[in-house]
Amino acid sequence: MHLQTVLALSAILLCDAKLPKLKQHILPNELPLSSKHEHNSQKFTELKNEKTSRIVDQYRVRHRRDVFDSNAFESRLNWTHTESLDENGDFVLKWISSNSGVTFRLEARTTGYVGLGFNSASNMRGADLVVAWVDDRNERAQILDCHGLHHDGEIVADEVQNYELISGHQNRTHTVVEFRRPFNTNDKEDYIINDNTIQVLWSLGPPGSDGELPKHVKSGSKPLRLIQALSKPETISLMHWDVALKNITIPNYQATLFWCKIIKVPELPSKHHIVGYQPLIDSKPIRDGNAVNEKISSPVHHMVLYECADDPDTYTWNVWAQDNGSFGPNRPIEWAICATPIAAWAMGSKGEFLPENVGIPLGGRGGVQYYMLEIHYDNNALHEVLDNSGIRVLYTPELRQHDGALLGAGIGVSALHLIPPKQPQYRTVGICSSECTSSIMPETGINIVSVLLHAHGTARKIALKHVRDFKELPVISEESAYDARYQQSRVVPGGRKFLRGDVLITECTYDTTSRDKPILGGYSTSQEMCLSFVLYYPRTELAGCYSMTPVDEFFETFGVTEFYYLSMTSIQNVFLSSGSLENLTIPVEMEMRLAAQEETRIFQGDDQGVSFLESLMIKNPPEFRNKTFMAHLNEMQWSEPLLTSQVETRLTHKGYHMMFCKKRDDTWAVPIQIEQYPIYKELSNDISEKHYKGFKLPSVTTPAAGSAVTVRDFDVAAILCLAISIIVAR
Ligand SMILES: *[C@@H]1O[C@H](CO)[C@@H](O)[C@H](O)[C@H]1NC(C)=O
Ligand SMILES: *[C@@H]1O[C@H](CO)[C@@H](O)[C@H](O)[C@H]1NC(C)=O
Ligand SMILES: *[C@@H]1O[C@H](CO)[C@@H](O)[C@H](O)[C@H]1NC(C)=O
Ligand SMILES: *[C@@H]1O[C@H](CO)[C@@H](O)[C@H](O)[C@H]1NC(C)=O
Ligand SMILES: *[C@@H]1O[C@H](CO)[C@@H](O)[C@H](O)[C@H]1NC(C)=O
Ligand SMILES: *[C@@H]1O[C@H](CO)[C@@H](O)[C@H](O)[C@H]1NC(C)=O
Repeated sequence: MHLQTVLALSAILLCDAKLPKLKQHILPNELPLSSKHEHNSQKFTELKNEKTSRIVDQYRVRHRRDVFDSNAFESRLNWTHTESLDENGDFVLKWISSNSGVTFRLEARTTGYVGLGFNSASNMRGADLVVAWVDDRNERAQILDCHGLHHDGEIVADEVQNYELISGHQNRTHTVVEFRRPFNTNDKEDYIINDNTIQVLWSLGPPGSDGELPKHVKSGSKPLRLIQALSKPETISLMHWDVALKNITIPNYQATLFWCKIIKVPELPSKHHIVGYQPLIDSKPIRDGNAVNEKISSPVHHMVLYECADDPDTYTWNVWAQDNGSFGPNRPIEWAICATPIAAWAMGSKGEFLPENVGIPLGGRGGVQYYMLEIHYDNNALHEVLDNSGIRVLYTPELRQHDGALLGAGIGVSALHLIPPKQPQYRTVGICSSECTSSIMPETGINIVSVLLHAHGTARKIALKHVRDFKELPVISEESAYDARYQQSRVVPGGRKFLRGDVLITECTYDTTSRDKPILGGYSTSQEMCLSFVLYYPRTELAGCYSMTPVDEFFETFGVTEFYYLSMTSIQNVFLSSGSLENLTIPVEMEMRLAAQEETRIFQGDDQGVSFLESLMIKNPPEFRNKTFMAHLNEMQWSEPLLTSQVETRLTHKGYHMMFCKKRDDTWAVPIQIEQYPIYKELSNDISEKHYKGFKLPSVTTPAAGSAVTVRDFDVAAILCLAISIIVAR
């Protein structure tokens, strides 16, 4: 097709986007070809790439005919999203999406060009780029659709221009441009904007760089989701409640630290609704015993605010609420009833707003009286820090339609969540069983409105799957380009009805090609997680629904059948009691090994059993005898695809899972059970039904295959301690 025709056609296609008509604003101006424009013409001729020069020329020819007075027009759209792409607020991106595409506004500190790009990686190779500028001589805005070449990222203009300029102007410091594009331009040189996380690239040209293509300039990238991100509600006025720690000193010898604090509900005579929250990060370095006002990268890694179930002993809870809190592993056991998450923040989140039909109740008669704030510090830099961080809870008296609640689901956080190294795509799954949901959900089920998917640095995909009556339903929420630096909830378009008896599966896929040691589950950034926080209504008693691999099955998967000193059941109890060895009879030799690791344990804080694995000595089979389990793991042939695919299958679809179904008051809705992966017909092109029923598990203590069996052989103490470990699991 002739280029002019293509340009004209693409302009027509773009015009059905929901926007004020541009026509009346377009003035039949001619670009005068006076010396005034040599400035920019010169810039254009400097472009090295021949193809780019040709397209730019043609583009200019087009604009000589129909350039409009972009300076006089602003869309005045109510931008639903605003993000600063750099740290200083020098490049602000605003956007709003319609049914067919996205309209953007850039406000950037430059009088040169501004560049915006979209890619799956945070570099220019193969990126979709758009460059815009306001001509310094005539104040007219220009825009150019470009892309980065696949082999070296060099920027060239697209054959087809798919970005449509709406307006642009500049003042002494800033350039502001508005433009739009369809989600899918059907141009292979443009990125398809979908609901996955996109690496948004930005660049700022120096003054006088109008019309140049970005090279060697101030630039960067930021992961963002352009659609399905929740936005600030427009109308309501919000009140806030700051839930924060008070002058907590983070010591300089602890790399991982949990801090928990009890907070009393604010005085609110009637019920209000929590509709969002924002992080309050306040960390100051301590020098010579004094906190100094200096900007540091805060060690706050994640924060969760929990509701506490009712306890008549308000005297004690009030004392706790006055207190500055407690180191995670030392917190009073009673705090385990603070089990229902209501706000979950992780590094890379600006906070959240709830969908407009849901609010989480706050205050009023019979409402929740106490909350627990939990902050996880990842202090690998080992600084001494004075911390006052927390969460700003946003609430309103204008009640919304539904009282919502959050449910935690996924894989219980423990060292048994193993991810082998050198894997391009390794899957793990956490199951919320049918027994659990049928025991605790109302007759009519629940409605899921949004989901926060959470994992760490090696996760690439997270999907929240839904199974009903042996059939998989469409995925509830899915992120196929996960980037741990961007943690925001995803709206479930139209919501999802989830019935009692349905199964919820959180499936995580990791890329560990850059690692050479196995990654174990845990809270630290170097460990992994696989969780989903599900916002739903109406509220139920369910607070958490997780699974993990049964201990004996885990070890057998790696060929180990017996350890010195401890039976599989004792080891299981250690995991279920969060690594506590208090009530175990351990031979002196093992105690010494553990004592040797005590220092590491303290250093790492609550380590979810990692150091315990390091101290377990293999007895059988003979070929691994007298090695620690970690040494054995580290020596496995992880680059052997057959081995890792077997491990993956065994720990997911063909394996057993230990199911935890925890209520808001920290009791079990159903006893802990060991079950097989649910049997269901997958919802994919491949509709062959999976039959895993007949799989016989060669196990030491696991019950016979095929039946779900309640684990009975834990003593009461171990079950009590589960309180802690499944706090671990949240
Ligand atoms: C933006 O919001 C204001 C106030 O809510 C409203 O009056 C105006 O019409 C909105 N503009 C557009 C373009 O939707
Ligand atoms: C220039 O425009 C920017 C972006 O709209 C604005 O923030 C800034 O205050 C303006 N500066 C002046 C001097 O008008
Ligand atoms: C925290 O410490 C600072 C001085 O280090 C003090 O001014 C402030 O009052 C303290 N805040 C609280 C809540 O104790
Ligand atoms: C908690 O507060 C007490 C005094 O009320 C103080 O001595 C202690 O150092 C504080 N703990 C931390 C970790 O800051
Ligand atoms: C150990 O046993 C005692 C007494 O039976 C019990 O109170 C305590 O909670 C147990 N501790 C652990 C960690 O199992
Ligand atoms: C392995 O360790 C056990 C117990 O520590 C010891 O009795 C045994 O001799 C060791 N065996 C070998 C082959 O080193």
